[in-house]
Amino acid sequence: MIKGFVFDLDGVITDTAEYHYLAWKKLADDNNWKFTREINEKLRGVSRLDSLQIILDYNEVELSFEEKNRLANLKNTNYINSLGSITPKDLLPGVKEFLTELRDKGYKTSIASASKNANLVLTRLEAKDLFDNISDGNSVENSKPAPDVFIHAAGSIGCRAKECVVLEDAAAGVEAGKIAGMKVIGLGSIETLGAADVVFKGMYEIDLDFVIKKLTK
Ligand code: BG6
Ligand code: MG
Repeated sequence: MIKGFVFDLDGVITDTAEYHYLAWKKLADDNNWKFTREINEKLRGVSRLDSLQIILDYNEVELSFEEKNRLANLKNTNYINSLGSITPKDLLPGVKEFLTELRDKGYKTSIASASKNANLVLTRLEAKDLFDNISDGNSVENSKPAPDVFIHAAGSIGCRAKECVVLEDAAAGVEAGKIAGMKVIGLGSIETLGAADVVFKGMYEIDLDFVIKKLTK
């Protein structure tokens, strides 16, 4: 029986990918590193330090742990500065309606994000009240594709993993949800999210009764 829904944030609730891209691009330009849209796609759902490592590997650059932390903090400052322009209008289509339907029908809802800025983003969106719990990059050690943040979220809303449905836009997140033992709805393209139990283009397409039937049969 499904009792809870666990949502990724970036790319599922709002599209912050462009802000992450611009912040990494500035860091890359300042350091004369190559950084393309294609590489940026590989950073979807990946933690801040792991994202930096992907960019460094691509540029064949080796740095100390301290230097990596310093650069990741610089990127984060760029990113946080850009979040000031986010408003409730930046909720992705169908998000408010789907969350409202879930809560009206008695399902528990949680965020399970790799981001350490989840609270800030949700505050800007004025969307914190849509969730019973927020689990994020500050809640666990291991980031996606490790299942930890999903397990943390499920526990925080009083559900077992198999009673939860994950909503994800990133391959690393789909993998994490499956490892956690949850049903997974992919939001995006079937090419990237084929490992999910069902894939929709966006939350606006989801018919709750249809999905519950499909995921529990
Ligand atoms: C994920 C994003 O949700 O959070 C990644 O998809 C990002 O792009 C990661 O790197 C970590 O976010 P933050 O805000 O802690 O740097
Ligand atoms: Mg995401």
